[in-house]
Amino acid sequence: MKYLIANWKSTKNVNTAIEWVNEFNKLMKANKEILKKLDEDSLKIIICPSYHLISLVKQKIIKHKNINLGSQDVSFFEQGNYTGEVSAQNLKELINYSIVGHSERRKYLKETDNVIDQKVQILKDYSIEPILCVRDENDLIPQGITFIAYEPVYAIGTGHNEDVDKIISSKNKIITDKNKIFIYGGSVNPENMLEYSKSSEIQGFLLGNASKDPNSFIAIASKL
Ligand code: PGA
Repeated sequence: MKYLIANWKSTKNVNTAIEWVNEFNKLMKANKEILKKLDEDSLKIIICPSYHLISLVKQKIIKHKNINLGSQDVSFFEQGNYTGEVSAQNLKELINYSIVGHSERRKYLKETDNVIDQKVQILKDYSIEPILCVRDENDLIPQGITFIAYEPVYAIGTGHNEDVDKIISSKNKIITDKNKIFIYGGSVNPENMLEYSKSSEIQGFLLGNASKDPNSFIAIASKL
């Protein structure tokens, strides 16, 4: 199974999300090869919109095996009087996955390993699978993590994707347990995907820019 995760970040409103989903549905229906991969469990797609769009995308997106929704973050409060927070309890009927510890949150929101650990444990309590982003081998990997997305900071949104050998050498430093699912993120696009798709060491990809347009997202999916 290969995993392809779309991280739209804070880029879409209702109109642009609906446009994305309509185009995605049209392209998917026409792409028998990708549908077959989804049917055969060789590909899983996880779309991570901002909170305000999750319910809308869930209603409108093509219903197919192995197309799932995720959030880009979650509150470290379980639920209750926490104005502005969106908790795992709030999200549990909408998503199966949640990105946690993205380097943008570590940088701009000052998220620490401790906060990220709390988020992971709450997600687990609500049976939502955390996708933990790490920048390198120095970031803590909390108990119970299966999905690890290695995202070197210099490669995110810069066009400077990391090459396969370097990714695998980082993987060996980050992961000791073979049961973990190792994902790479950082300037993946339809062109460099050809090289990545040859490696069985990388089990999935977390896409930022390339996920914002359904055409490039599907072009990548068709190469996996
Ligand atoms: P990018 O973003 O694909 O635009 O580099 C990846 C990410 O931030 O998860």
